[in-house]
Amino acid sequence: MSIKRCFKATARATAAKRRNKSLETKFSRGRRCQRRHYHSSTKIAEAGSIGHGTEPLVVPSPAFRLRLSQPADAAPLLALFHDTIRRVNCRDYTPEQIAAWKSGILPEVWAAKLANRWCVVAVDDADQPLGFADLEADGHLDRFYTHADHQRRGIGRALLQRVIEQAAAWQLPRVFSEVSITARPFFLSQSFRIITDQLVFSRGAAFLNYRMERLVP
Ligand SMILES: CC(C)(COP(=O)(O)OP(=O)(O)OC[C@H]1O[C@@H](n2cnc3c(N)ncnc32)[C@H](O)[C@@H]1OP(=O)(O)O)[C@@H](O)C(=O)NCCC(=O)NCCS
Repeated sequence: MSIKRCFKATARATAAKRRNKSLETKFSRGRRCQRRHYHSSTKIAEAGSIGHGTEPLVVPSPAFRLRLSQPADAAPLLALFHDTIRRVNCRDYTPEQIAAWKSGILPEVWAAKLANRWCVVAVDDADQPLGFADLEADGHLDRFYTHADHQRRGIGRALLQRVIEQAAAWQLPRVFSEVSITARPFFLSQSFRIITDQLVFSRGAAFLNYRMERLVP
């Protein structure tokens, strides 16, 4: 890359970071995006909002189990994907970026991808998806989403553990991903390291994300 182009790319990345940073502040105050108020294994309702008196009400989180995906999961997982981007990733990306992220996914293409990939799904007692992760044969962790209503309850950690087990079974040296701003703290907490940050242009929008990896034991 020429110095001029490199300078332009760096300037674009810096501007996007600044924009995303100011958006992070803006959206963390917003009402339409989900706030970060969950504890890992319990949901603590604000005092007085559900319970009586001034003590917070502690609601046990629903149990979940992991299983491999089935063809019938395609539609619910696509709905979960859209919903999580709309309600969770909106903390860190602009409405234009969110719209671009969600757009252009054909249900039949999504279903075909699911059928051809190793994908683990977290489900509740009624077999409803609460999260999912898919892994490609080269160790690329492509899609990784927890339901917007079930964030910070250990689902992501359990999914990732299963992904790492699968990567070990395939004798892969590492698992790697392009991680959103939103998911970066999760991946850092799970022993991933940042290789680089990058601006990705997709469907008419530029996205700041992070190439991250974790070695497989
Ligand atoms: C990333 C994601 C899948 C994590 O799933 P999750 O089920 O909420 O994660 P867990 O509850 O297992 O979190 C495990 C630990 O990760 C860390 N963590 C998770 N989210 C965090 C956050 N927003 N900030 C700081 N730490 C976080 C915490 O250490 C947490 O443990 P704790 O709750 O006991 O403190 C989820 O946040 C998500 O769906 N994000 C939006 C979609 C997305 O961007 N996906 C990635 C595409 S690359």
